[in-house]
Amino acid sequence: MTPFRPGLLQGQVALVTGGGSGIGAGIALRLAEHGAVVGLVGRTQSKLDDTAARIRSVGGQAHAFALDVRDYDALSGAVAELVERAGKLTLLVCSAAGNFLSPAATLSAGGFKAVIDIDLLGTFNACRASFEALSKQGGAVLSITATQAFVPTPLQCHAGAAKAAIQKLTQDLALEWGSVKIRVNALAPGPIDATEGMRRLAPPGADERAKLERALPAGRFGTVDEIADMALFLLSPAAGFITGTTLVADGGQSLLGGSRLLELMGG
Ligand code: HXC
Ligand code: NAP
Repeated sequence: MTPFRPGLLQGQVALVTGGGSGIGAGIALRLAEHGAVVGLVGRTQSKLDDTAARIRSVGGQAHAFALDVRDYDALSGAVAELVERAGKLTLLVCSAAGNFLSPAATLSAGGFKAVIDIDLLGTFNACRASFEALSKQGGAVLSITATQAFVPTPLQCHAGAAKAAIQKLTQDLALEWGSVKIRVNALAPGPIDATEGMRRLAPPGADERAKLERALPAGRFGTVDEIADMALFLLSPAAGFITGTTLVADGGQSLLGGSRLLELMGG
């Protein structure tokens, strides 16, 4: 674990959707390690409480808000409460997402809508609900997308469409919100080990997983810590001139292309 270094994000206040588990929790912890006060959003109170406890154990401050990102009013209320408790909002991370493997030919309209609503509408809701607070002093937004946004990927039309739209939204918001000193970026991870996403999407057998790992230019899956470091960079003053960009951190997975992925996933 990175040692507690309060300097980099001292005085910053962050809201992290999907902060109760996986990549979102790893990012929340990293931001807190560097001095930010962190608000955690997710639907499951126990997951938020676990992450808040991890943050407090490294000397950080955390507040939990159990809500669904599809509910704009609830998100807006959480932003207001965080600002009341911590004095301001300067950073937003949109990591909440839902996903499952499904052929487009059998995916129901409800299944497609559920993923679009959690990922895309949820990201818009978080950005829109945070805008006023962020614009008071300026800040930075980071959305977690995926390589499915630009690599055609079997069984992923719903998530791929949502993530592609989030990358476009990132560009549009960066263009409109630069004037009030809000930077807006996205981060596209490849396969990240020990996450819910990989439990749902990676081939189930150990041999197939190993074959997929070997096929990656990096020769391995990424880690939550690596994604948290990348998020720290994009949200910190070190990235002060970067806006409207998607940083890809995928161990080279996207270089393989869709047909190689299909083959590796047993299609
Ligand atoms: C086909 C499915 C399905 C499945 C649900 N549905 N699971 N369709 N295959 N495995 C359909 C249902 O039939 C229903 O359609 C609709 O989706 C909504 O289902 P609900 O269970 O009511 O939805 P909800 O409670 O909102 O839950 C959303 C969820 C769920 C996405 C379905 O799995 C969830 O809450 N996931 C959150 C955690 C998660 O997914 N983490 C991984 C993120 S990783 P009908 O037609 O009956 O209404 C990730 C990987 C990276 O994103 C790559 C990204 C591109
Ligand atoms: P995860 O642990 O399931 O993270 C998703 C989080 O979002 C959960 O904490 C979940 O908590 C929350 N969430 C889901 N639906 C929500 C809703 N409607 N309202 C509020 N919160 C909601 O999965 P992960 O694998 O770490 O994924 C995190 C992010 O990284 C996602 O954006 C994902 O698309 C992206 N990503 C992951 C990978 C990977 O390899 N894992 C690769 C590329 C991109 P609740 O269910 O309690 O609400």
